[in-house]
Amino acid sequence: MIPQETIEQVRQATDIVQVIGEYIRLKKRGRNFLSLCPFHTEKTASFSVSPDKQIYHCFGCGKGGNVFTFLMEHEKMSFIEAVRHLARKANIPIREERTDDFRREILDRLNYANQVALEYFQKTLTRNKYTSVLNGYLIGKRAITREAIEFFSLGLAGDEWEGFLNHAQQKELSPEDLEKAGLVMLSEKTGKYFDRFRHRLMIPIFNLSQKPIAFGGRTLKKGETAKYVNSPETPLYVKGNILYGLNLAREAIRQAGSVLVVEGYFDLISLWQIGVTNVVASSGTAFTAQQARLLARFAENVYLFFDADSAGRTAALRSVDALYDAGLEVKIIEPPEGEDPDSLAHKYGRDKIDELLQDAIGFVPYRIKDFDRKSAGIIAKEKLVKEFQNIASKIADATRRSLFLTEAAQLMAVDQSVFQEGMPAPPADSPKPGARARRKNATEAEFLSLLFNNPGTIDSIFQKISPDDFDSRDLARLYAAIINQYQTLGVIDARKLIDNSDDESFTSLISEVASVSWDEARVEEETRKSVKLIMVEKSKRIRARLQKELARAEADGDQSEADRILQELRSYGLDAKKDTD
Ligand code: CTP
Ligand code: MN
Repeated sequence: MIPQETIEQVRQATDIVQVIGEYIRLKKRGRNFLSLCPFHTEKTASFSVSPDKQIYHCFGCGKGGNVFTFLMEHEKMSFIEAVRHLARKANIPIREERTDDFRREILDRLNYANQVALEYFQKTLTRNKYTSVLNGYLIGKRAITREAIEFFSLGLAGDEWEGFLNHAQQKELSPEDLEKAGLVMLSEKTGKYFDRFRHRLMIPIFNLSQKPIAFGGRTLKKGETAKYVNSPETPLYVKGNILYGLNLAREAIRQAGSVLVVEGYFDLISLWQIGVTNVVASSGTAFTAQQARLLARFAENVYLFFDADSAGRTAALRSVDALYDAGLEVKIIEPPEGEDPDSLAHKYGRDKIDELLQDAIGFVPYRIKDFDRKSAGIIAKEKLVKEFQNIASKIADATRRSLFLTEAAQLMAVDQSVFQEGMPAPPADSPKPGARARRKNATEAEFLSLLFNNPGTIDSIFQKISPDDFDSRDLARLYAAIINQYQTLGVIDARKLIDNSDDESFTSLISEVASVSWDEARVEEETRKSVKLIMVEKSKRIRARLQKELARAEADGDQSEADRILQELRSYGLDAKKDTD
């Protein structure tokens, strides 16, 4: 374990706004920062980051926490990794120690297996035996530079059946783990393990933490049936969550505000060689909602850049609604007949790409042009109307949706009212902070939120009200934790409460309550008011309970019990009969 003082030191040296700002675009709103939530799909920013309290909370999906939980959730780091990561940034030295968490250990071993594989493949590519691949094929035929080979960590799987298996076992990796990592396979015939990748050019796939998690292996033989052999899905590698190249391109994408989506690894590498770096590769598949959302974290505009009749283009166009759903604007780049980004980059260079970008056509006109080429019938046209309606229904922003439909109507020469009819309902905007449905026990939640906003004389508040006075058990638990923290540390610090919470819903409750900002001038008075209100609500609850008991006692004819209850009710200064009627 990392010593508590070190964690504290890291905490002091870290600003949550800066850390989260590296992953998503934050906009200042009043005292806090707002953004679209990186943990769920939404159109209206509900994700709030508080620099005062150093916490975040999404009022749409309820996810919340501190800087450590953000890195754990978002970057899939363990707590220790998150602390280490931030310590490195702040130049705080840390003792190296191992975590013994079980799942983490498996993931660590899979990470390690991929890292060993990466280095092994890179080394193989430089072996004398394979100069024909390096110099002949990669540098010669494909015109890939040494710099790019290095930058993209390209490698080679040799032509042995157990070359990697043996190497990895020397590095203390078990065949079972290697199989889990998708790097070796078990032969049913012989019962022996063997390398999944043989005699293939190896393209490693990294996650956003820059760790290799999978590989694409391109054949080096002409006429081989499987042009690519890819890693299977593993606990580390979930295909629908990954876009090739995003780990390298994210900064360039953020700066440009736009991203080019190409089909193949080589398209991406070739564009990178001529200085076009805001690129990811779809690897020939349709977009998942997750991938679209990933892009939306860094960009607003997506340029689909495929060769004209590729299967990849068809797949990408099929999933355009996922891109619109994520709040992105889609444009299509149309390369000249028979060319793809790879060939264009090598033949014509940067200027040609810039020119094509300039000429990129919006999705709507592109789709109509493509449609006109292929079909003309009225039924087909009606289908296209439906297609546009479906996409439009994913666009949550009303203005954008209307502009989309107007363009489609005009270009199709269809009356716009036709588009309005039978439109599927557009998604509801997720609730904004404050505008969300009032939670049960709102007074109690409000009271606790005030405590996080320096209400002044805390001790006297603690004396006036105890967790037992609460109706909500969860909020009572939080109140007890707050009291305990104040009594031991002399402060109320949401970040630390979050560190000590080991259940996600309690963490979410802490961040929800603590994220509410109050006007400083009003905090003391509001606190006084809510203390009173909680006590009033408490008596109401007791009264209601006693009245029920009284009614039961009377029905049972138990007069002495009824008298006792009446007595108790009077002690609350309340007229029992009047209330029951
Ligand atoms: N792909 C795949 N399996 C295949 C074919 C293609 O996984 N059998 C994926 C790869 O990610 C590939 C992308 O689809 O990069 C695009 O395919 P293609 O254009 O055929 O491959 P390139 O990578 O462009 O390869 P090359 O330029 O060498 O033909
Ligand atoms: Mn290609």
